[in-house]
Amino acid sequence: MSATPLLLPFCCPCSAVIACARPSFDGTTSLAPPRSPSLSSALISPLPAVWPWDMVNAGPLKVSPMGFGTWAWGNKFLWGYENTMDESLQEAFNFAVQKGVNLFDTADSYGTGKLNGQSELLLGRFVEEFPGSEWSQKQIIIASKFAAYPWRITAGQIVEACKASLKRLKMKQLGIGQLHWSTANYAPLQERVLWDGLVAMHKEGLVKAVGVSNYGPKQLLRIYDFLEKKGVPLISAQVQFSLLSMGTNQMTIKSICDNLGITLIAYSPLGLGMLTGKYSYSTLPNGPRSLLFKQIMPGIEPLLQSLGLTSRRRRKTMSQVALNWCLCKGVIPIPGVKNINQVKDNIGALGWRLSTDEISQLEYAAAQSPKSMVQNIFQTK
Ligand SMILES: NC(=O)c1ccc[n+]([C@@H]2O[C@H](COP(=O)([O-])OP(=O)(O)OC[C@H]3O[C@@H](n4cnc5c(N)ncnc54)[C@H](OP(=O)(O)O)[C@@H]3O)[C@@H](O)[C@H]2O)c1
Repeated sequence: MSATPLLLPFCCPCSAVIACARPSFDGTTSLAPPRSPSLSSALISPLPAVWPWDMVNAGPLKVSPMGFGTWAWGNKFLWGYENTMDESLQEAFNFAVQKGVNLFDTADSYGTGKLNGQSELLLGRFVEEFPGSEWSQKQIIIASKFAAYPWRITAGQIVEACKASLKRLKMKQLGIGQLHWSTANYAPLQERVLWDGLVAMHKEGLVKAVGVSNYGPKQLLRIYDFLEKKGVPLISAQVQFSLLSMGTNQMTIKSICDNLGITLIAYSPLGLGMLTGKYSYSTLPNGPRSLLFKQIMPGIEPLLQSLGLTSRRRRKTMSQVALNWCLCKGVIPIPGVKNINQVKDNIGALGWRLSTDEISQLEYAAAQSPKSMVQNIFQTK
């Protein structure tokens, strides 16, 4: 699928939980088996509200409060991927897992042109070659997404797509199998096929759990009911969610998720990099992202200033503040990462919390910023 600059973030194929799950605060500093309940409760009071390496419940899964996204891994067009980056990506992956991050988001459409599937291939290799403990390796949860390509018109084809992902990932079972987007807006008949495919892959044991992505409130409720009748719990909903994307839709989806016990996974939590503080109108990223940034960045000055102020006062980076805002909202952010420094920085968003006042100030500044992120063209009502 081709992408026009304006649709960059969510074109293409790409274009919690937390709220329902109480952290156990066991205070481990690496991914280690849970400690005994008595020790956990003894440690509760002095530790922060979200402890960096604590797991939270997402349906039957235990996931870290933050995961990492891998859209860039294999994407030359938007993210400037080159094979020479693989070593650095592997280093980033290993560090993340060693520090207790166990959730990695990918998709069968990630990777441009001949590199299609590269993100899953790399993840498969990195999991296999992970140099840390076998226990940590076994905790890794891969959440992949299946594209609603127009030629995928039977449930069997969706199941085959899942099998192909598993092959690239060198795995027998996925953590979360997600529909990448809904076709309700333009091909409602195909939508039902996608849902049947999700049920079938779950019944065949190809996925531990199922989720959706880019589903709006109405469609989310519909698929939830459908899956419930089939005995398949919907455990996650992925949506663009950040200080640049916190509209009514996001908040309605969040409250539906809270009511139904669905984990909200926040994609593009750094606004594709705009909230990190390293870009400005005069310091733009290479490639087509710059076109989008040029349109949005001049309109988000109040937000960037507020992020900067909070980060200086807190001695945190702007990325950490932006991600911490997501954590405070009770969602699981999955920032995209390209190297170990970004992993290290983003992990620093865990283990502390913005105050209610700081959250209000950030949201006020976001509301004063006349620009927000372009939404995915496939996002449904
Ligand atoms: N379901 C969907 O339709 C959908 C859509 C979009 C994304 N996603 C998922 O969500 C993940 C995250 O979203 P995203 O990648 O679009 O955007 P993002 O997380 O908002 O931004 C990620 C980019 O910001 C930069 N960055 C990350 N951490 C940084 C740090 N600490 N300091 C400075 N720069 C940093 C990196 O790019 P540079 O270094 O090049 O600036 C990185 O690739 C994706 O990887 C994908 O798994 C899903």
